[in-house]
Amino acid sequence: MQLSTLKFNIESTDPTTIKTGCLIVALNAEQPIATQHPALAQISSGLLQQLADAGELPSAAGKTIILYHPDGLAADRLMIVGTGKSEKMNDQVFVRMAQGAGKALRNSRARTAHCLLPEVNVPGRDANWKTEQAALALDHSDYVYDATKKPAEDAAPATDSVSFADHAEALERAHAIAMGVRRCRLLGDLPPNICTPVYLAETASRIASEIDGLEVEILDQDQMQALNMNALLAVGQGSVNPSRLIHLRWRGGAPGQAPFALVGKGVTFDTGGISIKPRELMEQMKFDMCGAASAIGAIESIARMGLELNVDCVVAAVENMPDGKSYRPGDVITAMSGKTIEVQNTDAEGRMILADALTWTAQNVKPQAMVDIATLTGACVITFGHHATAVMTQNDELAGELLEAGLEAADRAWRLPLWDEYQEQIDSHFADMRNIGGSGAGSITAGCFLSRFAEGQRWAHLDIAGSAWRWGKAESASGRPVGLLARWLIQRAG
Ligand code: BES
Ligand code: MN
Ligand code: ZN
Repeated sequence: MQLSTLKFNIESTDPTTIKTGCLIVALNAEQPIATQHPALAQISSGLLQQLADAGELPSAAGKTIILYHPDGLAADRLMIVGTGKSEKMNDQVFVRMAQGAGKALRNSRARTAHCLLPEVNVPGRDANWKTEQAALALDHSDYVYDATKKPAEDAAPATDSVSFADHAEALERAHAIAMGVRRCRLLGDLPPNICTPVYLAETASRIASEIDGLEVEILDQDQMQALNMNALLAVGQGSVNPSRLIHLRWRGGAPGQAPFALVGKGVTFDTGGISIKPRELMEQMKFDMCGAASAIGAIESIARMGLELNVDCVVAAVENMPDGKSYRPGDVITAMSGKTIEVQNTDAEGRMILADALTWTAQNVKPQAMVDIATLTGACVITFGHHATAVMTQNDELAGELLEAGLEAADRAWRLPLWDEYQEQIDSHFADMRNIGGSGAGSITAGCFLSRFAEGQRWAHLDIAGSAWRWGKAESASGRPVGLLARWLIQRAG
């Protein structure tokens, strides 16, 4: 499936003279139009102030109205976007406002637009940040899943291009990140009969063939067997869809510089295996490869922007099915690292495959830091709902880097502790550890398990079980945390 985003360009002339399908402007319904936008106060004999006085301008952030062919504007349409109360404006509100504008833009059928949203005052944010975030938000709203569903006859076409007043670099960055976000969302949305481990591997190979300097390596089951990747292989052994280890490599940095590694959980469908999940909502477990999708999306973004940094992406891709050949509760498995694991629940499969993926990455990539990304625990959704990614690491500096990147990208994360006291919850009578931690602190004990396969590494774990997916009406992969990961790497490149 071919991916494309909105095109972004620069148009720095007087906005009232720009010939475009839609001029997008944010107005605070409570303040005089003339003080906010003198040029717009003039159009159609002061129409905007009349609408404001009549209470007809949208006031909530992201609510919109569209005026057609207003006098004094070269644009076909004028979209007014509400900002909400100015004292409430912050990063999150700005993004919500821009996503609302994006949705209305798509529905307006305009094919081009000029975006003035970066003019809004957001405390602590400059025009660069606002331009990048507005571009990403408009692109987010323009994504419509159509891989296995024809759009309705009367569906609005995709918007083609959006211009901004300035900041070409921010727009180039936004374009690269938007490609990664779209990649992540499409992979997450694709059904599990299409998006199998082999499909993920083929997708990675296709991306690598499209981008100069991005290299790919795929390990099949025989190759993983030879490396004793038994924990990863155990999870996939009940499926007719063979497992894969996917490795993407970007060398934008100095030759000897140790890379940064992203390690993704790619369970293309999680039935729970022999510890089978209840039937309600099991179809949602197609999204259990969103960690992999975000790792692939992030390295794609990095490669597309030509970042001067060495980055590796490693994905453990498997399907977790019940079968006569499945691994079972009670099995003791010797992982690639040599440590033994007592399987007490085959539904705690993410940590099994990541154990070997982390060992493989430490040995083969020798990273200066590695971050795994996984829809690892239902407990994480209980803790954070869908708003935050959970960060777990014993390294305070790395935690700080990731939290900061999340703030900067409006893709927020929050830390949970990995204190030693939690480790005893995964003690086992029959092996070095068991794969579940009993009652209490389910996300943390999963993190503790992973920490045992990252010893000696500068390592962090991101649990994205809540943040990876948007539930409800607009159900879809969210594209998170591609923004956070891309920002973390951009900041490492300096
Ligand atoms: N993929 C799930 C985690 C998950 C569950 C994400 C629900 C989003 C919503 C993971 O493989 C899993 O099944 N985890 C178990 C672990 C348990 C058996 C210790 C869970 O969270 O229930
Ligand atoms: Mn599971
Ligand atoms: Zn899972």
